[in-house]
Amino acid sequence: MENFTYYNPTRLHFGKGQILKLEQELTHYGKNVLLVYGSGSIFKNGVYDDVYKVLSDAGANIVELGGVEPNPRVDTAEKGIRICRDTSIDFILAVGGGSVIDCVKLIAAGAKTDATAWDIVTRKAKVRDALPFGVVLTLAATGSEMNSGSVITNWETKEKYGWGSSKTFPQFAILDPAYTFSVPKDQTIYGIVDSMSHVLEHYFHEADHTEFQDRMCEGLLLTIMEAAPDVLKNPENYDARATLMYGSTMALNGMLNMGYRGDWATHNLEHAVSAVHDIPHGGGLAILFPRWMRHYVHEDVQRFRKLATRVFNVNTTGLSDLEVAMKGIETLEAFWESIGAPTHLATYQIDDSTLNIIVDRAMRQGDFGNFATVTASDAEAIFKAAL
Ligand code: NZQ
Ligand code: ZN
Repeated sequence: MENFTYYNPTRLHFGKGQILKLEQELTHYGKNVLLVYGSGSIFKNGVYDDVYKVLSDAGANIVELGGVEPNPRVDTAEKGIRICRDTSIDFILAVGGGSVIDCVKLIAAGAKTDATAWDIVTRKAKVRDALPFGVVLTLAATGSEMNSGSVITNWETKEKYGWGSSKTFPQFAILDPAYTFSVPKDQTIYGIVDSMSHVLEHYFHEADHTEFQDRMCEGLLLTIMEAAPDVLKNPENYDARATLMYGSTMALNGMLNMGYRGDWATHNLEHAVSAVHDIPHGGGLAILFPRWMRHYVHEDVQRFRKLATRVFNVNTTGLSDLEVAMKGIETLEAFWESIGAPTHLATYQIDDSTLNIIVDRAMRQGDFGNFATVTASDAEAIFKAAL
């Protein structure tokens, strides 16, 4: 295990009715609040009304920016940045899933610099400051509510990149599992796949003596897999929704990966696909992760074997280590298929006609992956296997 320093300043308010904590949180900032949300789900499920009431009771001057897209666009963040500059916004509130939160992170950073939003995303401009912002989470998936990362798409150039800064942690996050009752089945499935993928990205690393971290990852994977069918059977099962919400936050808030760096290649591969085809992130991961695993199983058969036996309960009798490892990958794939996740890029009408451009986008920032290095020919092979 490597040396590490852990820091996470986001205050979590978890549970039923925790929206009331918003009033107390707002006392730390000025009255001019930019309220940011997506395409309207918050109007249908009552979350907007809850938030608006607390903001009004707190005497906030509310400016709204709706319409943040899933796979949020840099232009939308630019719009928010202009609002912040023109109306002296003191504080931003993100109400939504990962896309809204990621967009708000870029607005918060962009409001404090003259650099363009895209220069921030591509790391040409350094983030030195950001407006304070908080989160009311409505979808369990990305973990963006308690981390400093953000993933933004430039639809004109068909690029999608992750960026982040120590200045872009939310000040607080309000997580009421009941706010996720209305998440549609497909988005619930993508969230399950995404949070499991975050744990898997951590799990594939090169550090030694990470027994505790490995056990935490294994425990979280098992827990998510146990809650998933309950939520899909009954979307209003509070306890199962709570498990997914807490689990997805823990999957990517830095708690699991202290002392080592996870792989993160599959996320890069998926971002390239969604940059070109605008597909849901979790859907892309469900297709690509098993392909990445098969491509790199020989890198460290023992690690894949450990996952297979401890998480996927593979019966090892009479099997070689490699066969056990491969059965683990099959079991993961079968689990995702059983809950309704896609298995091939063809589901999204993606065929080999755009393969070159997807590979080009994946490789724009050079070879990648911390557990195994993905070159252009590796990326092409993985995408081809996923068609
Ligand atoms: O736009 P609205 O109307 O809000 O509808 C959204 C959207 O259509 C809907 N939704 C959200 N909460 C709902 C709801 N519908 C009904 N009831 C609710 N309570 O769900 C749809 C998808 O929302 P989105 O925010 O796009 O989903 P998600 O949270 O999965 O975020 C995906 C984005 O996050 C990035 C992905 O690449 C993608 O761009 N990621 C961000 C990460 C981070 N910042 O740490 C890490 C991840 O690996 C990921 O890359
Ligand atoms: Zn993800």
